[in-house]
Amino acid sequence: MKNILITGGAGFIGSHVVRRFVKNYPNYNIYNLDALTYAGNLENIKDIQNESNYTFLKGDIVDETYINEIFEKYQFEGVLHLAAESHVDRSITDPLAFVKTNIIGTVNLLNAFKKIWKDNFDGKRFYHISTDEVYGSLGETGLFTETTSYDPNSPYSASKASSDHFVRAYGETYGLPYVLTNCSNNYGPFHFPEKLIPLFINNIINKKPLPVYGDGNYTRDWLFVKDHAVAIDLVFHQGKNHETYNIGGFNEWKNIDLVRLLCQKMDEKLGRKEGESEQLITFVKDRPGHDLRYAIDASKINKELGWMPSVTFEEGLQETINWYLDNTEWLNNVTSGEYSKYYEKQYQ
Ligand code: NAD
Ligand code: TYD
Repeated sequence: MKNILITGGAGFIGSHVVRRFVKNYPNYNIYNLDALTYAGNLENIKDIQNESNYTFLKGDIVDETYINEIFEKYQFEGVLHLAAESHVDRSITDPLAFVKTNIIGTVNLLNAFKKIWKDNFDGKRFYHISTDEVYGSLGETGLFTETTSYDPNSPYSASKASSDHFVRAYGETYGLPYVLTNCSNNYGPFHFPEKLIPLFINNIINKKPLPVYGDGNYTRDWLFVKDHAVAIDLVFHQGKNHETYNIGGFNEWKNIDLVRLLCQKMDEKLGRKEGESEQLITFVKDRPGHDLRYAIDASKINKELGWMPSVTFEEGLQETINWYLDNTEWLNNVTSGEYSKYYEKQYQ
């Protein structure tokens, strides 16, 4: 049995990765390390909590002593690092939290991994999960490739870019065996409703205004979260050491078009009048430093590892809407308490 550490496994993407690894790899002991910040929720992985190859560790990646202790104790042969502060708007109000978790936390993990395996990295792997936002913004045309220069514009993307650089530097300097992926915007079940799609689903359910930043002509490339988990599985097992892979949905949408589609699908599902939810669209003050467009060229992972998204956007979005409507208790739990304070401050 190999001991594998997954960080951030109580969050959105991490919960899908933990579930997939616990179910598909009975020969791994999966340790899920998560600090359970506002974004972490054990309900996201309740279905696998009693599996014999699964252990939850509550801890903070910024806590160097604790990180060294668990690496000494469990001798992790593989690490999949997803724990992060992940919301751009929060990074604008509190950049230091992003420096701590995303940069210092990542370096703590790299150091602990290096410390236990320094004499023999054979068969070991450190997988850093990152974002396409490190590349900055595209104009109306073009795609991000693995060789696009880093040009981050938000404190979030600057902190992720920095962590990517540290991972690469540990590969060059110490021979640490890493793989790194930069993925586009994910959507799907268990997505915390501070991000565009789940926030708008929640507001449509509650007939609240839909706050579109600026003129809504910003473009994102959307990928269904379960397809991201498949890509992560492939890269962890078959990716080449010291390589970066871009992951994307081949699925660009302008925010305003996506919001209109979401309104239409929600109206159908909720039995509301055609056009009813669109009336909730409200154009609000733009996000500072708002990146115009992200779009990924995912041909490398396609050619080298045979990965492609398995669902269309229509299918993925429908599954997502159905999941939120079937899980109103989950939604109500995460939007009670602290969430309303955040919401008031952000959208007042
Ligand atoms: P999320 O915010 O939903 O989850 C983050 C998880 O990390 C939470 O469970 C939280 O409790 C945990 N965490 C935060 N700080 C921690 C700390 N100091 N110590 C231990 N645990 C901590 O994030 P997500 O959307 O699931 O993103 C996961 C990873 O994927 C991140 O690294 C993010 O940068 C990257 N990513 C996200 C997207 C996206 O669209 N969501 C796209 C590409 C890449
Ligand atoms: P978001 O889900 O925060 O992801 P990211 O900023 O990491 O791409 O936002 C997606 C897009 O939606 C982005 O262009 C900002 C926009 N947006 C809104 O217009 N209104 C909102 O309330 C939010 C949260 C995002």
